[in-house]
Amino acid sequence: MSATTERIFSGIQPTGRKHLGNYIGAIRQYVAGQETAAAPGDAIFCIVDLHATTVDYDPAKLRERVHDTVAILLAAGLDPERCVLFRQGDVREHAELSWLLSGVTAWGDLNRMHQWKVKREQIEAGTGGFVSAGLFSYPVLMAADVLAYRANVVPVGDDQRQHIELMREVARRFNERFGPPDVLVVPEGRIPEVGARIMDLQDPFSKMSTTSGGDAGRVYVLDEPDAIRKKFRSAVTDSGREVRRGSGKEGIANLIDVLAVVGGRTPESIEAEFEGAGYGDFKMAVGDAVAEYLAPVRERYAGLREDEAELERALAAGAGAAREICAPVLADVREAMGVAEPR
Ligand code: AMP
Ligand code: TRP
Repeated sequence: MSATTERIFSGIQPTGRKHLGNYIGAIRQYVAGQETAAAPGDAIFCIVDLHATTVDYDPAKLRERVHDTVAILLAAGLDPERCVLFRQGDVREHAELSWLLSGVTAWGDLNRMHQWKVKREQIEAGTGGFVSAGLFSYPVLMAADVLAYRANVVPVGDDQRQHIELMREVARRFNERFGPPDVLVVPEGRIPEVGARIMDLQDPFSKMSTTSGGDAGRVYVLDEPDAIRKKFRSAVTDSGREVRRGSGKEGIANLIDVLAVVGGRTPESIEAEFEGAGYGDFKMAVGDAVAEYLAPVRERYAGLREDEAELERALAAGAGAAREICAPVLADVREAMGVAEPR
C-alpha cells in the first residue's frame, strides 16, 4: 500500500436481518469501496461475531446469523475475488490487539461513549439487567479491527462517529507512547452526506435500528416488495402537505433522503419533482423505488444462502488473506510495546 492508496476497512454485526439503514448507510459504501480499491487487500470487510457476544445471544444461532450476513453482503455485490471478506473470530489477531490497545485507551473516553452512557443510565436506574464488561470495552475491539490492517478509511453510518473518533485517539496515543516511528495509521471515517442516518418509518425521531422500534418502522433488505410498499405507505409524516425538508418535517425529510439515495439523485431534485404532489403519491413513489432497488439483492440472496459450504469456503479464504495483512502489524505492535512474540 503506497502512501496515497486508500485502504478501506469496515465491520458489520451478524444480526442477519439487515435493514435499509444498514444498506444505505454502510453496505452500499462497501461495494463502492470495492470498486475503487487498487487491490483486493485494500477493501476489507469483517463480520464481527466477537462484538456480538457482548450482549445476550444464542450461541447456536450465531453461526447462522454470520451466514445470513455474508450472503447479504455477497448479494449486495461484494466479490470475494475483489475484496477481503471474513469473520472476525477466524482471525485471532483482533482479540489480541484489542487487549494490547486497551493499555493506551483512556477509561474516561470509554465511559463517555454515547452507547455506553445509555447502558450506564439503565444500570443506575436498576433497569439494565446483566451488562457485560465487553459492552464497555466494545470500542477498543472495534479500534483493533481497523488498526490491525493500517486501514485509512472506514465507511460507516452516522451512529459510529464517536467510535471512529475513539479509534483515532487510540492510534495517536499508541504512536506517541511507543513511536517513533509511527506503528499505527490514524484512520478517517467515511460517512455519506445523504443517508448516513435513516430514521424509523414509524418514528422519524429515532434511527432505524435492529434493537429498538418495531417491524413496521423497519424495512429489511430481504422484505418482499409488497411488504416494503406497505411500510412506506404507512410511514409517519406530518400534518402538512409539502414534500420538502425542514423542521417539523422529519418524516418527509427521511423519505426524501431514501429516495435520493436509491434513485441516485439529489434531495433538491426530489423536492422539485414532487412540488404540489400529495403525501400519498410521494410515499407510493418511495415505496416503489425501494422495492425495485432491493429486489435483485433479495433474489440473489436465496441462492447464495443455501450453499453453506460455499459461504464457509469464502470465509476461510478471506480469513487467510486477512491474517496475511494483519499478522505483520501485530508483530510490529508487540515489538514496539516490548511484549514477547508468541512461541
Ligand atoms: P450494525 O448492524 O450495527 O453492525 O451496523 C452496520 C452499519 O450500518 C454501521 O456502519 C452503521 O453505522 C450503519 N447503520 C446502522 N443503522 C443505520 C441507520 N439507521 N442509517 C444509516 N446507517 C446505519
Ligand atoms: N460497531 C459497528 C456497528 O455496530 C460494527 C463494527 C465493528 C465496525 N468493528 C468495526 C465498523 C470496524 C467499522 C469498523 O455497526
